[in-house]
Order: sequence, then C-alpha cells, then structure tokens
Amino acid sequence: MSTFVINTVVTTPFEGQKLGTSGLRKRVKVFQQEHYTANFVQASLNAMPSPGKKGATLVVGGDGRYYTKEAAQIIIRVAAGNGVSKLIIGRNAILSTPAASNLIRKRHATGGFLLTASHNPGGPDNDFGIKFNVSNGGSAPEKVTDRIYELSKQIKEYHIAGLPEVDLSELGTKRYGEDFTIEVVDSVEDYVQLVKEIFDFELIKQFFQKNPDYKVLFDSLHGVTGPYVKKIFVEELGLPSTSIQNAIPLPDFGGSHPDPNLTYARSLVDRVEKENINFGAASDGDGDRNLIYGKSVFVNPSDSLAVITANAEIIPYFKRTGLKGVARSMPTSGAVDLVAKKKGIECFETPTGWKFFGNLMDAGRISICGEESFGTGSDHIREKDGIWAVLAWLNIIASANEKKPGTGIKEILLAHFNEYGRNFFARYDYEEVEEQQGNNVINHLTKLISTERDSFIGKTYGNFTVKDADNFEYHDPIDGSSSKKQGIRIFFEDGSRIVSRLSGTGSHGATVRLYVEKYSKDPLEYEADTQKALKPLIDVALEISQIPAFTGRNEPTVIT
Ligand code: G6P
Ligand code: ZN
Repeated sequence: MSTFVINTVVTTPFEGQKLGTSGLRKRVKVFQQEHYTANFVQASLNAMPSPGKKGATLVVGGDGRYYTKEAAQIIIRVAAGNGVSKLIIGRNAILSTPAASNLIRKRHATGGFLLTASHNPGGPDNDFGIKFNVSNGGSAPEKVTDRIYELSKQIKEYHIAGLPEVDLSELGTKRYGEDFTIEVVDSVEDYVQLVKEIFDFELIKQFFQKNPDYKVLFDSLHGVTGPYVKKIFVEELGLPSTSIQNAIPLPDFGGSHPDPNLTYARSLVDRVEKENINFGAASDGDGDRNLIYGKSVFVNPSDSLAVITANAEIIPYFKRTGLKGVARSMPTSGAVDLVAKKKGIECFETPTGWKFFGNLMDAGRISICGEESFGTGSDHIREKDGIWAVLAWLNIIASANEKKPGTGIKEILLAHFNEYGRNFFARYDYEEVEEQQGNNVINHLTKLISTERDSFIGKTYGNFTVKDADNFEYHDPIDGSSSKKQGIRIFFEDGSRIVSRLSGTGSHGATVRLYVEKYSKDPLEYEADTQKALKPLIDVALEISQIPAFTGRNEPTVIT
C-alpha cells in the first residue's frame, strides 16, 4: 500500500468541451493539450449526480484506440485526487461499451468513463473520445452532460494524485493510500457470462453442428470486439476461427473507419458475396453498433429491430422477463411500430441518442429498442449492443430451423414483410460540410414548416403531397423533461416521410442527414432494391431540402 499526495493544479477553461450525442469527441491532438483531458475529467466528476464523486466507484475502459492508455492514467490520477474510492478498469483499459455498461450495473458502480469515439477513425491524427456513464450503466442524461459543459467553462483548478503510472496489464486489486483502490478485471469474462444467460447457446451451437455448411463471418473491423467474438463465436459456439476477421484490436483500426455499414464494412460484404457466406456481421470500434448482412440481403437496422421484436419470445431472456414495450429513435422507420401494435405493447418514439431509452428501460416500460444508425439492444444493459444483435439473429435463425430447415436471413425478412408489409428506408449522409452550410439546410427547412407553412402544407412534389410537418419534440414520459428541435419531419399524404437533422456525433464541421421512408403493402415490392424503390421520394426530398445547393455536394458521402 503506497500513499500519495494530492496536488491542486491551476487551469483555465478550454472552449468546446460540449458533449455531443454520445460524449466528448475531438481530434487526439486536442485531448493531448496540457490540462485538456484533466479539465474534462474534473468537470465530469464535479457534475456527477448525487451522491457525487466522494467515495464513488467508477468503471473505466474503452475501445483501445490511440491515446487510451494516456487518458486512463489521467483519469486514475484525477479520480484519486478527488476522493473517488474505487476504479474498476478493464485490462489494459479495454472494455467494449456494452461490457462497460454491464460492469457498471453488475458491480453497482456509481458510473464510469468510457474511452471511445465509437465508429470514428482512430490514430494520432484522428479522433479520441470520453463518455461519462451513470449508475444505471447508460450515458449520462442531458442534465448531467449540460452540467459538465457548464463546469468545463468555469473550471479554475483540478486535483490530481501524485501516483506513479499504474500497470493495467495485470489483473487484480491494488490499494493506494487510505481509501483508493484499483481493480483490474478481465475485459471479456463478465460480458460473455451475460450473453450466455440471455441466449440459447446450446440451440445455436447445435444448429451450427447440424449445418456445417452454414458459413458465418464476423468482422470486428479491428475494433474492440475481437477478443469477445473469438471467445463467443469460436470457443463457445464452436465456429471455425476463419469465421472471424479483423479480430485484432488496433489503436488506429488498421487505418479505416470502424463503422459497420455498407461503405466501411466493404470487405465483409465482398467476402459474403464472393464466398457465398450465409451470415455476415460486423460491429464498430467500441462494439455497440452492428451490421447484419446475408448473401444479397442487407438487413436494414430498422427492419432488424422489428424482426427481433417480432421473434423476441423465442429468446430465453424475454421468455423470463416478458416483452414489455419497445422504442425507436424518431428517424428510425416505423417497422417496429407495426409489430408493437400487433403484439399490443407500448411503442415509444424518442430523439436520436441511445441515452433517451434509459429512463424507459429503468421504468420497466420497454424491453427492446433500436436506431437506424446500426444500433439495437435491450434492457439487459443501458447501451446498444452489437454482439447482442448478432446473437439475437442467430438465435432466431437456429430456432426457425427447428421448424423449417434451410431458413436464413432472407427467408426471415420475407416472412416478416409478408406479415407486416415493408417499410423502405434509406439515409443519405453529407459528412463534414461547413457548419454554416449545415445550418443553412436546417434554417431553410425550418422556414418551410413555420413562416412558409401555409403554402408548404398541401403542396405537391412529384407524386407526393405534403400532409404535415414539424420539428420533432420529445417529452420524456418518465422524468417530464422536454427535448426540442430534434429533427425536421415532413409527412406526405401516402404515409411516406422525410426527416432531416444535423448529426450530433461529428468531431468537426457539420454532417447533414436525410432520412426517407416509404411503406408498401404490395408483395411484389418486398424483394425490390431499396434505392430503386425510394428513388422518386429521394428526388423529392432533395428538391425540398435543397441540400445539394446549400452544401455544394451533388452526392452524399454515405448512403445507407
Ligand atoms: C451514436 C449514438 C446513437 C446515435 C448515433 C448517431 O452511435 O450512440 O445513439 O443514434 O450516434 O447519431 P448522430 O447524431 O450522428 O445521427
Ligand atoms: Zn459505437
């Protein structure tokens, strides 16, 4: 046991320590500035909700991106300097976001620091991030993140313990001084135990044994999930080790975007097509996003949410806990709403950001939730969970094969569309346009739905007549809080919808998102190509929003 001194360091505020949709994300170089990280950690500790930082237990870990080690050491010293009594840290400061959320809950911690910029590229010239989570295991709610920002603007000093660098590669508990303890835990173990309790591992394993030709490929995109998927899919479920790729976590994710979508998970998509792989999947840098892709079928995340909800009862966890309600973020398609209606359960529409699901889960109102941005999950933790979504699909497929051998991703999707109809959905992203250009798009749309409202409502563009429009506002039914201006929604007479908002997760410039959705109950359309089916509506969306004119971009950066 070694004691330590606490130094108070005089500092001045840094501009822009404002948390986005999911924590503070900046270039690594910004975090590397003297005092920058310590300031933010101090502001976060000061903003901790009651009972506050003194005597707190915090979980620390992240996706292993560049600057993780340095940030972890700063967090250790500032936490010790502020009377935090215990840190539970993943080995080498590694924890996937779902694993961190689970640890906070399981160990009844006061909160945690998650060191991640999620799917943003890493490395010395790219992004780092810090996210503060609270005792339910979820991202801090807005009242806490607003407080962190306020305090970051007034900060005059931080308290830092004179501790030597702590070796985070060794498991075990060490005590420093009278009441500061660090426990380094295995990054994978608790999480694996959790998912084994949720899903029918035996059934999935048997399905793979009975169908040795059913090929699976999981791409970790060199993010944090490598060791998790190796343990789960290879060691537990018995798949060959060739079923995983890019499974070694790298601080720069091998130089690419660790974002599981059709653009950045290209190598997975290509291999699935070329090698006739039945089930392709990927997760992002910190392991909370997922992509499910079967041969020639991309599972849209909005559909994935609906399919998992429709089949939830076959998953042991939901058999035990019952299927309460469901929720989706506003831009996510209404596919899940139709399932909820049929099942007679509540369905909530929340703003973009997983944190908005937290209150509903804590209050026992929802079991499953999801977002179009490749996020799906349930109330087993308070973050979305990439591996969970993949296991949910495998559990559903294994179960469906009991009744009807040969059922794969495509058959499950088609059966779903036949029962509920199909919500065609696409998203156009215009990344890193100038901030002013992004604001111009939103200001233009705001004018259309406010001062020019009278001529806008009822106007016809192509085959689409505007029925209604607003800027989405959410009233949290649990804590009564309101979140305004969450995205412009334009509804058409035929039930189609377009939505536009600015992303809250970029690290510089602005990203304009455009979401289009059209519902079809025509079976002849169920296998249609999404972009083709949506083309007329996309044209109208571009005409109304004037995005190309305002941004100078004729093509989006990414189409989902
Ligand atoms: C993160 C959040 C999600 C959110 C997504 C997109 O992954 O955890 O909750 O949906 O970012 O947010 P954005 O503001 O960039 O559209
Ligand atoms: Zn993520």
